[in-house]
Amino acid sequence: MSVHQLFDLGGQTALVTGAASGLGSAIAEALLAAGARTLMTDVDEDALNARVALLRKHHPLAEGAVLDVADPDAVDAVVDDAVRRYGQLDCVFANAGISAGRGFAVETGQLEHVEHPAWDRVMRINLDGVLATLRASVRHMKPRRQGRIIVTSSIAGIRAEPLSGYAYVASKAAVNNLVRQAAVELAPFNVLVNAIAPGPFATEINGGRLKLPESAERMRTYIPLGRVAQPHEIQGLALLLASPASSYITGAVIPIDGGASAR
Ligand SMILES: NC(=O)c1ccc[n+]([C@@H]2O[C@H](COP(=O)([O-])OP(=O)(O)OC[C@H]3O[C@@H](n4cnc5c(N)ncnc54)[C@H](O)[C@@H]3O)[C@@H](O)[C@H]2O)c1
Repeated sequence: MSVHQLFDLGGQTALVTGAASGLGSAIAEALLAAGARTLMTDVDEDALNARVALLRKHHPLAEGAVLDVADPDAVDAVVDDAVRRYGQLDCVFANAGISAGRGFAVETGQLEHVEHPAWDRVMRINLDGVLATLRASVRHMKPRRQGRIIVTSSIAGIRAEPLSGYAYVASKAAVNNLVRQAAVELAPFNVLVNAIAPGPFATEINGGRLKLPESAERMRTYIPLGRVAQPHEIQGLALLLASPASSYITGAVIPIDGGASAR
């Protein structure tokens, strides 16, 4: 393979969860630009339709399907349908996730205030949703002995994070080891499983809090690079992990955080 083919996804098919907004939308755009037919999925139908229509202006291989990752039967159905329609599924991004609100930096985020309904909801989407997406994908990738699965985790899953809620940090820590476990099981089948662990990106998560000027100000001291990232800055790493360029990377949890986890 020549060097210029390392990031080429021509002829490949991809699926992204949580693709109507933020990082998922940026990831889908990168996959499309690299040539992959990309099924963008999201629980928010209106936002999804708008985003798919926007991307289709430049990328005719963009498609959309409504999917709530907290519903494992729906995940199976959408993945199975994608395989039926496209004949194969080369790459899946388990990206959908939600915030658990503030961390212990504010009183309401402290341990004695953690409540079960909210904890369960975060786990159902951030952890069970990732499991459902991995499981549905692997059923197709394993027999074919080919596939890439990339999970959007967080640096809040690697270390304590005063700004993130308990359910969030626990869910992201759990997916990191889910990724390692799956990577080792699936390596003999040439199915590579990795995680991206972002620091703060200016998306809609947590009510768009990271887009506010006060967050930008806080990150000036909190992040070595001194700023919040923009969603498009995820694209290089996403493309690396989806493409032939990463043929020897599996089981990795890769921070993309302006240096935050190096502290
Ligand atoms: N933005 C950050 O600073 C940051 C940092 C670390 C990790 N992450 C992770 O990145 C991923 C994407 O988040 P984002 O920042 O782009 O947020 P976002 O809110 O902009 O986008 C998340 C998308 O996921 C969708 N979604 C929510 N629940 C869903 C469900 N049950 N099923 C399917 N789709 C669902 C939303 O409708 C939305 O379109 C999440 O897993 C998040 O935890 C984000």
